[in-house]
Amino acid sequence: MMRVGMLVTHLRPEEKLLIAAFQARGIEPDVLLDREVNIDLTAGADQPAPNGIAWSAYDIVLERCVSTSRGMYLQAILNAWGIPTINSYATASICADKLLTTLALARAGIPQPTARVAFDEDSALEAVAALGYPAVFKPVTGSWGRLLAKVNDRTAAEAIIEHRLTLGSYQHHTFYIQQYVDKPGRDIRAFVVGDETICAIYRSSAHWITNTARGGTASNCPVTPELNDLCLRAARAVGGGVLALDVFEDPQRGLLINEINHTMEFRNSSAPTGVDIAARVVEYAIQQARVTA
Ligand SMILES: Nc1ncnc2c1ncn2[C@@H]1O[C@H](COP(=O)(O)OP(=O)(O)OP(=O)(O)O)[C@@H](O)[C@H]1O
Ligand SMILES: [Mg+2]
Repeated sequence: MMRVGMLVTHLRPEEKLLIAAFQARGIEPDVLLDREVNIDLTAGADQPAPNGIAWSAYDIVLERCVSTSRGMYLQAILNAWGIPTINSYATASICADKLLTTLALARAGIPQPTARVAFDEDSALEAVAALGYPAVFKPVTGSWGRLLAKVNDRTAAEAIIEHRLTLGSYQHHTFYIQQYVDKPGRDIRAFVVGDETICAIYRSSAHWITNTARGGTASNCPVTPELNDLCLRAARAVGGGVLALDVFEDPQRGLLINEINHTMEFRNSSAPTGVDIAARVVEYAIQQARVTA
């Protein structure tokens, strides 16, 4: 019998859907609370997980932590012990960092918005000027569209840079700046599971930040061969797995990959697409486990 673990902070709608999908296949996943984790890093996988069962008993562990750092360290530990996780630490560590994602996509020749990095006030102003206004400042780590800043002119850029340097923690002292893409009032969120783009939604909003967590509305986006191919290449460039990709429709350049999320939320996406995302993730997880059911 396959033993499946699910590392969580608490049970969001996604985790409940995943548990139900495992149960539908006769598997009862063990819910492991990240706040109860207490691991001897110098010992091996035979020590107990929070539920008292040895970590080594797990054939696959799904990482569903709200905190990126908790999830990533747990993936690093489990993978170091030879326990497969979804996603792998290698993939998560790239996706968790927008700068590293940009580099991985560039190396694979994947189209993306032009992005620059600078570390100092003057060089950051030069970087924005090189991209042209408007441009978008983003924290290299973060999600739900938090602390994104679209700057329309040099005065605004100066203010953002000064605020970041004065008020921000050290992560905010890395100036990661993207060219602004003039999207048609929406972007695309595409879901890749293994070797397939299983579905996609448009996220439409009157605001330039279209995240559903920020009020964007979801509707079905057909997965064309072009979208599927681009998303699979991008997913592969970061190591593959279960991933949610943000895709922009650039009026000049066509489809561009904005970023890739490794602990995806999907509660709003099964209804418009008609695809049972949890079921697809669970089928993939069962395939990736050390033993088969
Ligand atoms: N360069 C850009 N040009 C135009 N719109 C952008 C640009 N960057 C971000 N946006 C808008 O802001 C949204 C959030 O950006 P992004 O995905 O980079 O941030 P995030 O905080 O990582 O969001 P999440 O992790 O929740 O997907 C995008 O979905 C898009 O609507
Ligand atoms: Mg995003």
